[in-house]
Amino acid sequence: MDELRDKYLGAVASASDEAALEEVRLAALGKKGEIALRMRELGTMPPDQRMATAPALNALRDEVAAAVAARKAALQDAALDERLRAEWLDVSLPPRPRRAGTIHPITQVTDEVTQIFAALGYAVAEGPQVEDDWHNFDALNIAPEHPARQEHDTFYMARSEGDNRPPHVLRTHTSPVQIRAMMGQGAPLRVICPGRVFRADYDQTHSPMFHQVEGLAIDRAITMANLKWTLEEFLKAFFEVPTVDLRFRASHFPFTEPSAEVDIRCSWEGGTLKLGEGDSWLEILGSGMVHPKVLTAGGIDPTEWQGFAFGMGIDRLAMLKYGIPDLRAFFESDLRWLRHYGFGALEVPTLAGGV
Ligand code: DAH
Repeated sequence: MDELRDKYLGAVASASDEAALEEVRLAALGKKGEIALRMRELGTMPPDQRMATAPALNALRDEVAAAVAARKAALQDAALDERLRAEWLDVSLPPRPRRAGTIHPITQVTDEVTQIFAALGYAVAEGPQVEDDWHNFDALNIAPEHPARQEHDTFYMARSEGDNRPPHVLRTHTSPVQIRAMMGQGAPLRVICPGRVFRADYDQTHSPMFHQVEGLAIDRAITMANLKWTLEEFLKAFFEVPTVDLRFRASHFPFTEPSAEVDIRCSWEGGTLKLGEGDSWLEILGSGMVHPKVLTAGGIDPTEWQGFAFGMGIDRLAMLKYGIPDLRAFFESDLRWLRHYGFGALEVPTLAGGV
Protein backbone atom coordinates (compact mmCIF):
# COMPACT_ATOMS: atom_id res chain seq x y z
CA MET A 1 0.00 0.00 0.00
CA ASP A 2 2.80 2.39 0.96
CA GLU A 3 4.61 1.56 -2.28
CA LEU A 4 1.49 2.40 -4.32
CA ARG A 5 0.96 5.62 -2.40
CA ASP A 6 4.55 6.78 -2.94
CA LYS A 7 4.44 5.79 -6.60
CA TYR A 8 1.24 7.62 -7.51
CA LEU A 9 1.51 10.65 -5.24
CA GLY A 10 5.02 11.13 -6.67
CA ALA A 11 3.76 10.79 -10.22
CA VAL A 12 0.92 13.26 -9.55
CA ALA A 13 3.31 15.81 -8.07
CA SER A 14 5.67 15.62 -11.00
CA ALA A 15 3.04 15.67 -13.78
CA SER A 16 3.98 18.84 -15.62
CA ASP A 17 0.76 19.40 -17.54
CA GLU A 18 -2.85 18.24 -17.62
CA ALA A 19 -2.20 15.54 -20.24
CA ALA A 20 0.53 13.95 -18.14
CA LEU A 21 -1.68 14.17 -15.08
CA GLU A 22 -4.52 12.43 -16.91
CA GLU A 23 -2.16 9.58 -17.77
CA VAL A 24 -1.24 9.19 -14.13
CA ARG A 25 -4.93 9.21 -13.17
CA LEU A 26 -5.72 6.48 -15.71
CA ALA A 27 -2.74 4.36 -14.60
CA ALA A 28 -3.92 4.51 -10.99
CA LEU A 29 -7.67 4.93 -10.98
CA GLY A 30 -8.82 4.18 -14.55
CA LYS A 31 -10.83 1.04 -15.28
CA LYS A 32 -7.62 -0.91 -15.80
CA GLY A 33 -5.63 1.19 -13.39
CA GLU A 34 -3.49 -0.41 -10.75
CA ILE A 35 -5.53 0.74 -7.74
CA ALA A 36 -8.82 -0.12 -9.46
CA LEU A 37 -7.53 -3.64 -10.19
CA ARG A 38 -6.57 -4.09 -6.54
CA MET A 39 -10.05 -3.05 -5.52
CA ARG A 40 -11.49 -5.64 -7.84
CA GLU A 41 -9.27 -8.27 -6.20
CA LEU A 42 -11.00 -7.54 -2.88
CA GLY A 43 -13.89 -9.78 -4.03
CA THR A 44 -11.65 -12.82 -4.20
CA MET A 45 -10.20 -12.37 -0.71
CA PRO A 46 -11.16 -14.24 2.39
CA PRO A 47 -13.53 -12.00 4.44
CA ASP A 48 -11.11 -11.15 7.23
CA GLN A 49 -8.37 -10.16 4.83
CA ARG A 50 -10.87 -8.12 2.83
CA MET A 51 -12.03 -6.34 6.01
CA ALA A 52 -8.43 -5.40 6.77
CA THR A 53 -7.51 -4.30 3.22
CA ALA A 54 -10.64 -2.53 1.95
CA PRO A 55 -10.59 0.62 4.14
CA ALA A 56 -6.91 1.22 3.45
CA LEU A 57 -7.43 0.72 -0.29
CA ASN A 58 -10.45 3.06 -0.29
CA ALA A 59 -8.45 5.63 1.62
CA LEU A 60 -5.59 5.29 -0.86
CA ARG A 61 -7.98 5.68 -3.83
CA ASP A 62 -9.50 8.81 -2.28
CA GLU A 63 -6.10 10.21 -1.45
CA VAL A 64 -4.80 9.73 -5.00
CA ALA A 65 -8.04 11.12 -6.49
CA ALA A 66 -7.78 14.17 -4.22
CA ALA A 67 -4.13 14.66 -5.16
CA VAL A 68 -5.03 14.46 -8.85
CA ALA A 69 -7.81 17.03 -8.41
CA ALA A 70 -5.55 19.37 -6.46
CA ARG A 71 -2.76 19.04 -8.98
CA LYS A 72 -5.20 19.63 -11.81
CA ALA A 73 -6.46 22.83 -10.20
CA ALA A 74 -2.90 23.99 -9.64
CA LEU A 75 -1.95 23.29 -13.26
CA GLN A 76 -5.02 25.17 -14.50
CA ASP A 77 -4.20 28.12 -12.28
CA ALA A 78 -0.64 28.17 -13.57
CA ALA A 79 -1.86 28.01 -17.18
CA LEU A 80 -4.24 30.89 -16.55
CA ASP A 81 -1.51 32.95 -14.87
CA GLU A 82 0.77 32.30 -17.82
CA ARG A 83 -1.93 33.38 -20.26
CA LEU A 84 -2.74 36.50 -18.29
CA ARG A 85 0.95 37.38 -18.24
CA ALA A 86 1.27 36.86 -21.98
CA GLU A 87 -1.91 38.68 -22.90
CA TRP A 88 -1.40 41.50 -20.46
CA LEU A 89 -2.75 44.77 -21.63
CA ASP A 90 -2.66 48.09 -19.80
CA VAL A 91 -5.98 49.60 -20.85
CA SER A 92 -5.11 52.79 -19.01
CA LEU A 93 -2.28 53.59 -21.47
CA PRO A 94 -2.94 56.46 -23.86
CA PRO A 95 -3.42 55.38 -27.49
CA ARG A 96 -0.13 54.71 -29.32
CA PRO A 97 1.04 57.89 -31.07
CA ARG A 98 0.93 57.51 -34.85
CA ARG A 99 4.52 57.50 -36.05
CA ALA A 100 4.65 60.24 -38.62
CA GLY A 101 6.92 59.48 -41.55
CA THR A 102 9.58 62.03 -42.43
CA ILE A 103 10.78 63.59 -45.63
CA HIS A 104 14.24 62.35 -46.58
CA PRO A 105 16.89 65.11 -46.67
CA ILE A 106 17.57 64.35 -50.36
CA THR A 107 13.89 64.90 -51.19
CA GLN A 108 13.82 68.03 -49.06
CA VAL A 109 16.92 69.51 -50.69
CA THR A 110 15.64 68.61 -54.17
CA ASP A 111 12.44 70.50 -53.33
CA GLU A 112 14.41 73.46 -52.00
CA VAL A 113 16.57 73.66 -55.13
CA THR A 114 13.52 73.31 -57.36
CA GLN A 115 11.70 76.02 -55.45
CA ILE A 116 14.57 78.49 -55.78
CA PHE A 117 15.06 77.88 -59.49
CA ALA A 118 11.32 77.91 -60.13
CA ALA A 119 11.32 81.45 -58.76
CA LEU A 120 14.03 82.29 -61.33
CA GLY A 121 11.87 80.95 -64.17
CA TYR A 122 13.29 77.42 -64.50
CA ALA A 123 11.15 74.39 -65.25
CA VAL A 124 12.03 70.85 -64.16
CA ALA A 125 13.10 68.42 -66.90
CA GLU A 126 13.60 64.70 -66.49
CA GLY A 127 15.28 61.89 -68.34
CA PRO A 128 15.72 58.14 -67.95
CA GLN A 129 18.15 56.66 -65.43
CA VAL A 130 19.02 53.90 -67.91
CA GLU A 131 20.44 56.05 -70.68
CA ASP A 132 21.88 55.26 -74.09
CA ASP A 133 25.54 56.10 -74.49
CA TRP A 134 24.84 58.72 -77.17
CA HIS A 135 22.91 60.92 -74.70
CA ASN A 136 25.23 60.17 -71.79
CA PHE A 137 28.49 60.69 -73.71
CA ASP A 138 28.60 61.40 -77.47
CA ALA A 139 26.02 64.18 -77.55
CA LEU A 140 27.89 65.85 -74.68
CA ASN A 141 31.07 65.89 -76.75
CA ILE A 142 32.58 62.96 -74.88
CA ALA A 143 34.00 60.86 -77.73
CA PRO A 144 34.42 57.07 -77.31
CA GLU A 145 38.15 57.43 -76.67
CA HIS A 146 37.67 60.36 -74.25
CA PRO A 147 39.19 59.66 -70.82
CA ALA A 148 36.02 60.94 -69.12
CA ARG A 149 34.34 57.67 -70.11
CA GLN A 150 36.77 55.83 -67.84
CA GLU A 151 36.76 58.51 -65.16
CA HIS A 152 33.03 58.15 -64.76
CA ASP A 153 33.33 54.50 -63.60
CA THR A 154 30.33 53.71 -65.73
CA PHE A 155 27.90 50.87 -65.05
CA TYR A 156 27.09 49.23 -68.38
CA MET A 157 23.87 47.32 -68.99
CA ALA A 158 24.10 43.82 -70.46
CA ARG A 159 23.23 43.28 -74.12
CA SER A 160 21.85 39.98 -75.34
CA GLU A 161 24.36 37.83 -77.19
CA GLY A 162 24.93 38.84 -80.81
CA ASP A 163 23.60 42.37 -80.22
CA ASN A 164 26.52 44.58 -81.14
CA ARG A 165 24.98 47.96 -80.48
CA PRO A 166 26.72 49.99 -77.76
CA PRO A 167 25.32 49.02 -74.36
CA HIS A 168 23.02 51.32 -72.43
CA VAL A 169 24.49 52.77 -69.25
CA LEU A 170 23.18 53.84 -65.89
CA ARG A 171 23.54 57.57 -66.44
CA THR A 172 26.74 58.84 -64.88
CA HIS A 173 25.48 62.43 -64.58
CA THR A 174 22.33 64.46 -65.17
CA SER A 175 23.91 66.23 -68.17
CA PRO A 176 22.20 63.94 -70.74
CA VAL A 177 18.91 65.53 -69.68
CA GLN A 178 20.29 68.78 -71.19
CA ILE A 179 20.25 67.06 -74.59
CA ARG A 180 16.76 65.66 -74.10
CA ALA A 181 15.41 69.05 -73.01
CA MET A 182 17.02 70.82 -75.97
CA MET A 183 15.67 68.28 -78.41
CA GLY A 184 12.25 68.25 -76.82
CA GLN A 185 11.72 71.95 -76.18
CA GLY A 186 14.16 73.91 -78.34
CA ALA A 187 15.43 77.39 -77.50
CA PRO A 188 15.03 79.58 -75.52
CA LEU A 189 15.23 77.22 -72.58
CA ARG A 190 15.60 77.30 -68.83
CA VAL A 191 15.51 73.99 -67.02
CA ILE A 192 16.91 72.24 -64.04
CA CYS A 193 17.22 68.46 -64.06
CA PRO A 194 17.42 66.84 -60.64
CA GLY A 195 17.80 63.09 -60.43
CA ARG A 196 19.68 59.93 -59.64
CA VAL A 197 23.05 59.17 -61.17
CA PHE A 198 25.31 56.12 -60.87
CA ARG A 199 29.04 55.45 -60.70
CA ALA A 200 30.98 52.41 -59.50
CA ASP A 201 32.51 54.08 -56.46
CA TYR A 202 31.92 53.53 -52.74
CA ASP A 203 33.43 55.16 -49.66
CA GLN A 204 32.58 57.80 -47.04
CA THR A 205 32.06 60.48 -49.68
CA HIS A 206 30.97 58.31 -52.63
CA SER A 207 27.96 56.13 -53.13
CA PRO A 208 27.33 54.10 -56.32
CA MET A 209 23.97 55.88 -56.56
CA PHE A 210 23.81 59.57 -55.79
CA HIS A 211 21.96 62.69 -56.89
CA GLN A 212 22.77 65.63 -59.08
CA VAL A 213 20.96 68.66 -60.31
CA GLU A 214 21.78 70.05 -63.69
CA GLY A 215 20.96 73.57 -64.80
CA LEU A 216 20.67 74.82 -68.36
CA ALA A 217 19.77 78.27 -69.65
CA ILE A 218 19.78 78.99 -73.37
CA ASP A 219 18.98 82.29 -74.99
CA ARG A 220 20.40 84.65 -77.59
CA ALA A 221 22.76 86.65 -75.41
CA ILE A 222 23.47 84.61 -72.29
CA THR A 223 26.95 85.09 -70.83
CA MET A 224 29.18 83.94 -67.98
CA ALA A 225 27.98 87.01 -66.06
CA ASN A 226 24.44 85.58 -66.06
CA LEU A 227 25.83 82.26 -64.86
CA LYS A 228 27.69 83.92 -62.00
CA TRP A 229 24.66 85.97 -60.89
CA THR A 230 22.37 82.96 -61.06
CA LEU A 231 24.68 80.79 -58.98
CA GLU A 232 25.16 83.53 -56.41
CA GLU A 233 21.43 84.05 -56.06
CA PHE A 234 20.87 80.33 -55.80
CA LEU A 235 23.56 79.74 -53.18
CA LYS A 236 22.45 82.68 -51.02
CA ALA A 237 18.87 81.43 -51.06
CA PHE A 238 19.83 77.80 -50.54
CA PHE A 239 22.24 78.31 -47.64
CA GLU A 240 20.07 81.13 -46.26
CA VAL A 241 22.99 83.57 -45.95
CA PRO A 242 22.96 87.26 -46.92
CA THR A 243 26.13 87.07 -49.02
CA VAL A 244 28.28 84.41 -50.62
CA ASP A 245 31.76 84.76 -51.98
CA LEU A 246 32.39 82.58 -55.03
CA ARG A 247 35.59 81.70 -56.82
CA PHE A 248 35.39 80.63 -60.46
CA ARG A 249 38.33 78.36 -61.20
CA ALA A 250 39.18 77.59 -64.82
CA SER A 251 38.53 73.93 -65.46
CA HIS A 252 37.69 71.56 -68.25
CA PHE A 253 34.50 69.73 -69.14
CA PRO A 254 33.98 68.39 -72.67
CA PHE A 255 30.46 69.85 -72.80
CA THR A 256 31.30 73.42 -71.82
CA GLU A 257 33.73 75.99 -73.20
CA PRO A 258 34.93 77.84 -71.25
CA SER A 259 34.46 75.71 -68.14
CA ALA A 260 34.67 76.70 -64.50
CA GLU A 261 34.55 74.91 -61.22
CA VAL A 262 32.95 77.03 -58.55
CA ASP A 263 34.20 77.22 -54.98
CA ILE A 264 32.42 78.91 -52.11
CA ARG A 265 34.26 80.77 -49.33
CA CYS A 266 33.91 79.10 -45.98
CA SER A 267 35.46 78.59 -42.58
CA TRP A 268 35.81 75.38 -40.62
CA GLU A 269 36.47 77.15 -37.31
CA GLY A 270 35.62 75.02 -34.29
CA GLY A 271 34.87 72.08 -36.53
CA THR A 272 31.67 73.58 -37.92
CA LEU A 273 31.30 74.81 -41.43
CA LYS A 274 30.34 78.46 -41.96
CA LEU A 275 29.71 79.73 -45.45
CA GLY A 276 30.47 83.26 -46.63
CA GLU A 277 33.39 83.87 -44.28
CA GLY A 278 36.83 82.47 -43.50
CA ASP A 279 39.87 81.51 -45.56
CA SER A 280 38.87 78.11 -46.94
CA TRP A 281 37.25 77.28 -50.26
CA LEU A 282 34.85 74.46 -50.86
CA GLU A 283 34.23 73.16 -54.34
CA ILE A 284 30.52 72.84 -54.97
CA LEU A 285 29.81 72.63 -58.67
CA GLY A 286 30.96 72.44 -62.27
CA SER A 287 29.75 74.88 -64.90
CA GLY A 288 30.47 76.68 -68.11
CA MET A 289 29.15 77.96 -71.40
CA VAL A 290 27.47 75.19 -73.37
CA HIS A 291 29.82 73.88 -76.08
CA PRO A 292 28.61 74.61 -79.67
CA LYS A 293 28.84 70.89 -80.46
CA VAL A 294 26.45 70.16 -77.59
CA LEU A 295 23.95 72.74 -78.82
CA THR A 296 24.18 71.18 -82.28
CA ALA A 297 23.62 67.69 -80.87
CA GLY A 298 20.54 69.08 -79.13
CA GLY A 299 19.22 70.44 -82.41
CA ILE A 300 19.92 74.08 -81.52
CA ASP A 301 21.84 76.38 -83.89
CA PRO A 302 24.97 77.59 -82.07
CA THR A 303 25.27 80.63 -84.35
CA GLU A 304 21.96 81.91 -83.01
CA TRP A 305 21.86 80.67 -79.45
CA GLN A 306 24.20 80.28 -76.53
CA GLY A 307 23.79 79.33 -72.93
CA PHE A 308 25.29 78.25 -69.67
CA ALA A 309 25.07 74.98 -67.81
CA PHE A 310 26.02 73.76 -64.39
CA GLY A 311 25.89 70.54 -62.41
CA MET A 312 26.10 69.92 -58.69
CA GLY A 313 25.68 67.11 -56.20
CA ILE A 314 22.42 67.23 -54.26
CA ASP A 315 23.70 64.86 -51.58
CA ARG A 316 26.70 67.12 -51.08
CA LEU A 317 24.45 70.18 -50.76
CA ALA A 318 22.36 68.34 -48.18
CA MET A 319 25.44 67.30 -46.18
CA LEU A 320 26.74 70.88 -46.14
CA LYS A 321 23.46 72.54 -45.28
CA TYR A 322 22.29 70.08 -42.65
CA GLY A 323 25.64 68.98 -41.20
CA ILE A 324 25.40 65.35 -42.24
CA PRO A 325 28.86 63.78 -42.00
CA ASP A 326 28.59 60.49 -43.90
CA LEU A 327 27.09 60.19 -47.36
CA ARG A 328 26.43 56.47 -47.03
CA ALA A 329 23.94 57.03 -44.19
CA PHE A 330 21.59 58.64 -46.72
CA PHE A 331 20.92 55.26 -48.25
CA GLU A 332 21.02 52.90 -45.26
CA SER A 333 17.35 53.36 -44.32
CA ASP A 334 18.16 53.44 -40.60
CA LEU A 335 14.94 54.64 -38.98
CA ARG A 336 16.80 56.42 -36.17
CA TRP A 337 18.81 58.38 -38.75
CA LEU A 338 15.69 59.15 -40.78
CA ARG A 339 13.84 60.44 -37.73
CA HIS A 340 16.80 62.58 -36.72
CA TYR A 341 17.60 64.11 -40.11
CA GLY A 342 14.17 63.82 -41.74
CA PHE A 343 11.79 66.73 -42.26
CA GLY A 344 8.16 67.03 -41.28
CA ALA A 345 5.81 66.21 -44.10
CA LEU A 346 4.29 69.69 -43.90
CA GLU A 347 7.56 71.61 -43.86
CA VAL A 348 7.38 72.21 -47.59
CA PRO A 349 9.68 74.92 -48.93
CA THR A 350 7.66 77.78 -50.36
CA LEU A 351 8.33 81.22 -51.73
CA ALA A 352 6.49 82.79 -48.81
CA GLY A 353 7.84 80.51 -46.10
CA GLY A 354 11.37 80.25 -47.46
CA VAL A 355 13.44 77.09 -47.72
N1 DAH B 1 28.34 66.47 -65.51
C1 DAH B 1 29.42 66.92 -64.65
C2 DAH B 1 29.77 65.79 -63.69
O1 DAH B 1 28.96 64.96 -63.43
C3 DAH B 1 29.01 68.13 -63.88
C4 DAH B 1 28.86 69.32 -64.77
C5 DAH B 1 29.94 70.13 -64.99
C6 DAH B 1 27.66 69.61 -65.35
C7 DAH B 1 29.84 71.24 -65.83
C8 DAH B 1 27.53 70.73 -66.18
C9 DAH B 1 28.64 71.54 -66.40
O2 DAH B 1 26.38 71.05 -66.77
O3 DAH B 1 28.51 72.64 -67.20
O4 DAH B 1 30.85 65.76 -63.17
